[in-house]
Amino acid sequence: MSDTGDAGGPPRELRRNAEGRPSWFGQTFFGIRDRAGFAQALNKAFATIAPNWARGTFTGDNLVTFGKNLSFLEDKAFLDAIARHADTAVERSIVWRTAVLVWAARNGLRREGDFVECGCYRGTSARIVAEVLGFGALPRGYWLYDLFDYPEGSTHTHMPGMGAELFETVKARFADMPNVQVFRGSVPEVLEGRSPDRIAFLHIDMNHAPAEIGALEALFDRVSPGGAIVLDDYGYQGYVAQRDAERAWFAARGYDVIELPTSQGLVIK
Ligand SMILES: C[S@@+](CC[C@H](N)C(=O)[O-])C[C@H]1O[C@@H](n2cnc3c(N)ncnc32)[C@H](O)[C@@H]1O
Repeated sequence: MSDTGDAGGPPRELRRNAEGRPSWFGQTFFGIRDRAGFAQALNKAFATIAPNWARGTFTGDNLVTFGKNLSFLEDKAFLDAIARHADTAVERSIVWRTAVLVWAARNGLRREGDFVECGCYRGTSARIVAEVLGFGALPRGYWLYDLFDYPEGSTHTHMPGMGAELFETVKARFADMPNVQVFRGSVPEVLEGRSPDRIAFLHIDMNHAPAEIGALEALFDRVSPGGAIVLDDYGYQGYVAQRDAERAWFAARGYDVIELPTSQGLVIK
């Protein structure tokens, strides 16, 4: 289901001022008790900004910024892919995170190996990355892994739409790109014999510390020098145990993870 706004138009969150400079008004914030009060307070705060700084505004995903260039919103291929594939308000509110993934994937084009995502869920961010890069025509693979289904009451974060049919839906989403493969199973076990030897871009997004450490144990050695590893939710308070485990894991190997304002952790190998 799409709630993007007018079919074929730009995402409804995108606004441009008279000079064409972009702002993005995402609606999703996590952890708000009083949404109406929060929105009112934000509008009041924005009204206090000096006119020449009241542009380059970004809201969403627990980020509120102003006076920024928001350069990723000048990338037409990126905006087109967001308009086409970010179907929900959450997917559009995390647009800055998705821009980081596109950056990391483009960086991967200069490295040896395939692309990997552990925890693809509906496949939205991978689809956007693949589309921006014209992945279907590239001589490399994109390997996507997910459980797609787990019993109620398990230790996993419940995600809407999980179920037996999600695996088929995600495969269908990449039907036009035969070099994108989707695997159902539990990371790290599913990686055994079904993962690439060299990796140019690794995205880990499972909201589950043991699985994420398992992915690093299995895959980090295969990441090419200069390849980017993006750790989703590294900066979110709700996932501080995951952050602690990953920070310690990387520190033991001499790496420092930078926490980005988007709440992603980033390591360049
Ligand atoms: C936040 S969602 C991923 C969102 C996706 N990366 C995107 O950008 O659209 C987290 C996903 O991790 C998956 N997951 C959690 N533990 C897993 C495991 N051990 N192996 C495979 N997938 C797992 C869940 O099923 C869920 O779909």
